[in-house]
Amino acid sequence: MSQIQNPSENSPHILVLGMGGTIAGLASNPVDQPLQYAAGQVEIDSLLSHIESAIPGDLCLNSRQVANINSCNMTEPLLTLLGHAVRDALENTMVRGVVVTHGTDTIEETGLFLQLICGSLAQNLGKRVVLTGAMLPANAPNADGPSNLLDAIQWAASPLDNCPGGIYAVMGGRVCMAMDLAKRHTTALNALMQASPSSPVRLINPSWLSGVKAVEALWTEDLPIPSANEWPWVEILTSHAGARSETIDLWLKSKAQGLVLGGTGMGSLHEQWLEPLVQAAKQGIAVVRAARPGSGQVMPDVPEKDFEGCLAAGKLCAPKARIALQLALNAEKQAKSVGKALTWQDFFARIAVLPEIR
Ligand code: SIN
Repeated sequence: MSQIQNPSENSPHILVLGMGGTIAGLASNPVDQPLQYAAGQVEIDSLLSHIESAIPGDLCLNSRQVANINSCNMTEPLLTLLGHAVRDALENTMVRGVVVTHGTDTIEETGLFLQLICGSLAQNLGKRVVLTGAMLPANAPNADGPSNLLDAIQWAASPLDNCPGGIYAVMGGRVCMAMDLAKRHTTALNALMQASPSSPVRLINPSWLSGVKAVEALWTEDLPIPSANEWPWVEILTSHAGARSETIDLWLKSKAQGLVLGGTGMGSLHEQWLEPLVQAAKQGIAVVRAARPGSGQVMPDVPEKDFEGCLAAGKLCAPKARIALQLALNAEKQAKSVGKALTWQDFFARIAVLPEIR
């Protein structure tokens, strides 16, 4: 039997951090209405006890409930807490790898966050951090959570010979880099991997692996974790037919430090928005142009020249671009405090050009 109950923290183990989500959800009528449920109900120890018999006997697990929420309610202080929990675990010599169970609704934001704050640390220490979740609640007849959790634990524990340390995600029998997660379906069991490059968990193909290595070669330094109450205020606004200049005018009067724009097509913005957005950039509000379609890239000066102070989001969708901009603004602040003349644009540009893995 593997050791799940009262394991020794002083022997090598995989640490499983519970954040909640559907994987920990319960439906009141699981047979007839499995999609009508409350997320974040079951404790992480209980989820682990259901797969205990399938865990290899020599594998020791330890667990910690960081939160138990529906991830649509994710907060910035919780990201700070999770970021420190993962970093501390990576630095702990007794932790071989880390698994994070998480709701799928915002798992792509958390995946990018973890890549940016500890991707390099994980890579240098040769440890894997593996995010996982589920599309069906824990008590649904064909719940996908147990097999996803088991796969994630095995991926966190498996030798590095075929794939390096880093921040990964495992769902539906497939693995991808966590920053490439993309939820593009409301209910499908493979909702997170649909628009994402991925590879079967037990069959890592060499072209995917060279993509992972390309990311790691570029990503040599982690960004600081914002303190719980110091996350920059960044909002997402979506351009659409009938967009009004007043929408942007309202934000000019706010204390928002950044705006991420979900542009149409290749990231075009309604002409009604242009004048107030130029004003926003002049006022010192960081402006990033992402796109609505959900896959593909937003390139600088395409389809039209970017106004001064506006950066293209590259392959980041708007919610990921928002996390990246928040961390870039925070990194700029910290750099200034130690006399370094680095700007949010310097940090953001590095994130937006990370290669897409296919
Ligand atoms: C959540 O994100 O917490 C609920 C939805 C899910 O996990 O699939």
